[in-house]
Amino acid sequence: MSCASTHEDGHRLLERVTVVANDRVTEGVGLIVLESPRVARAVRPGQFVHLRISTGTDFILRRPFSIHRAEEDRLHILYQVLGTGTRALAEKRRGEEMDVIGPLGHGWEIPEGTAHALLVAGGLGAAPMGMLAEQLSACGVAVTVAQGAPTAERLVGQGVFEATARRVLTATDDGSAGEHGFVTGLVEGALATDRPDVVYVCGPEAMARIVTAQAAAADVPCQVSLERLMACGIGACLSCVVTTTDGQRRACVDGPVFDAAHVVWDVSEIPPKH
Ligand SMILES: Cc1cc2nc3c(=O)[nH]c(=O)nc-3n(C[C@H](O)[C@H](O)[C@H](O)COP(=O)(O)OP(=O)(O)OC[C@H]3O[C@@H](n4cnc5c(N)ncnc54)[C@H](O)[C@@H]3O)c2cc1C
Ligand code: FES
Repeated sequence: MSCASTHEDGHRLLERVTVVANDRVTEGVGLIVLESPRVARAVRPGQFVHLRISTGTDFILRRPFSIHRAEEDRLHILYQVLGTGTRALAEKRRGEEMDVIGPLGHGWEIPEGTAHALLVAGGLGAAPMGMLAEQLSACGVAVTVAQGAPTAERLVGQGVFEATARRVLTATDDGSAGEHGFVTGLVEGALATDRPDVVYVCGPEAMARIVTAQAAAADVPCQVSLERLMACGIGACLSCVVTTTDGQRRACVDGPVFDAAHVVWDVSEIPPKH
């Protein structure tokens, strides 16, 4: 089997889904599992779904969420509670229904000949990386994960990384797990020691930008998953623009994964967080 993927986007589906489980992972973060046979079988690492969380005017706009893992008929979504939509998501109970549109977007690519990959996740940046780590590992790619978070409790998604990666390196802002400091402090060492063929990064843009520069300095290709405000999710409204060296691109269809070397980092495009 060739595991190289250049990611051809498939058809998006509209599916009525049922909540199988919805558990608190840590303060302000949950993991919801949805029975979603059609989307779960079609989704690829790095793609996302657009979720209509509830009815009413607050929910006319769907909310975008990465797929953390897809397991047979089920989608696993790691979510951070921020506002109206994610608060409502945290209230969902087993058996409740919602609908999703997906899979959406352009996900991670696995370049031909990849033998070793470095995944760099900051905070909820771990969300789109579980499925990627699983696919790389299934394809025989040696995976190193460098993960950072404010505290040990906020190192989310560690189960899948421990199960798939050859090495998991951690850093926390308060020193409660791993190195004391930022995840970017782990990257140069991992680049030098592991000599990866590709770097994948997701997390706060200040961090992703530094990792992009670190990968470029080591002459290793780097892919980044970016978050933007998304209204339509299908390329029609231009709310999700990302400036690249090839011009303006829409994160919902041209991304959310981009070649990091092509991103023109522009703070005015980053959605504010509470
Ligand atoms: C491709 C993509 C994948 C994402 N994957 C995940 C994920 O796996 N887990 C996760 O927790 N979050 C993810 N997000 C962010 C998530 O969509 C927002 O946090 C969520 O929509 C906020 O909704 P809300 O109603 O709770 O908050 P609101 O009250 O609407 O807003 C809360 C904050 O979230 C920001 N926000 C609102 N809507 C969006 C949006 N559509 N995109 C980005 N930020 C927004 C706002 O700027 C605001 O500061 C992803 C976003 C994108 C674009
Ligand atoms: S969200 Fe509408 S164009 Fe991307």
